[in-house]
Amino acid sequence: MIHSRIAGTGSYLPPRIVTNDEFSERLETSDAWIRERTGIAQRHIADESQGSSDLALEAGKAALQAAGARPEDIDLIIVATSTPDFIFPSTACLLQAKLGSKDCAAFDVQAVCSGFVYALSIADKFIKSGQHKCALVVGAEVFSRILDWNDRGTCVLFGDGAGAVVLRASDAPGIHSSVLRADGRHSGMLSVPGNVSGGKIIGSPFLQMVGNQVFKFAVKVLDEVGREALAAAGAGIGDVDWLVLHQANVRILDATARKLGIPPEKLVVTVDHHGNTSAASIPLALDEYVRAGRIKAGHRLLMEGVGGGFTWGAVYATF
Ligand code: UT7
Repeated sequence: MIHSRIAGTGSYLPPRIVTNDEFSERLETSDAWIRERTGIAQRHIADESQGSSDLALEAGKAALQAAGARPEDIDLIIVATSTPDFIFPSTACLLQAKLGSKDCAAFDVQAVCSGFVYALSIADKFIKSGQHKCALVVGAEVFSRILDWNDRGTCVLFGDGAGAVVLRASDAPGIHSSVLRADGRHSGMLSVPGNVSGGKIIGSPFLQMVGNQVFKFAVKVLDEVGREALAAAGAGIGDVDWLVLHQANVRILDATARKLGIPPEKLVVTVDHHGNTSAASIPLALDEYVRAGRIKAGHRLLMEGVGGGFTWGAVYATF
């Protein structure tokens, strides 16, 4: 049987750091409130000249280097993003051209903060089919572009960035299981309810969220889907070395780990210095812990995302 395995990770954060104090200078908020309610101390914000494909390019190059792969080795590119450079072509096609990976399949996945888990699960299935051997899977976002910078309830939460993995065909797993879920009846809880039509923006181009409902829903489904992914692999809670959750709010991370019965020392936390980078948050967190020597070869990872749609999912893998 063909398996798929993560062969290298990479990430990129734009250099500009925005601290909580920058918000409190012009909005009714404070560093203390933001830290206490979210755990966020700072986030990175992309320069106006940078699109998601530019961030994805830097993350992708780092992942290729870590995997010892060349752009021409890649036969599948999947970019998870809700902030693409254009309506079309896809960010994955733009990334392909920038990387110089010719002729391979390239497409975007739109599952908001679950996007990376969706993309990784899709790439795993493509590789297991035998038709693809080496995939570049990227989460890349410039959420700063879809925020109302005067809405204190949302603008303090998000940041920009990109993370990537190279997923290769392998004799041994690798990815043991993945579970993907969605429920479109909850679309109003978290959305950017606008579109472009006839040269005009119809609806709103800004992120809207019922924060406390999202919070409760996230903890509930992350617990359920994490257990499902482990059960599908014949594994239990004790078989998790690292819980790599979508980094939305440190209180969501803590509550989910507690509900799953996973001790805090196994919980990956980067939301404090990245903010919520949507589809980029899991591969960004993964790369940071790998490069710090904390996640090592052979460690078992439970990766889980939840976000707009609503969408959620989990991937259980040996690194
Ligand atoms: O990737 C998935 C995307 N989203 C998320 O994961 C977000 C999930 N939700 C959350 O992280 C939390 O719900 C928030 C951080 C958004 C809010 O925390 P909360 O503990 O759920 O607070 P709340 O929504 O119940 O609001 C409490 C109060 C409200 O004031 P009133 O109505 O009680 O007077 C808000 O207006 O906090 C107020 N508030 C703020 N105060 C100071 C909201 N944002 C701010 C702010 N500074 N930035």
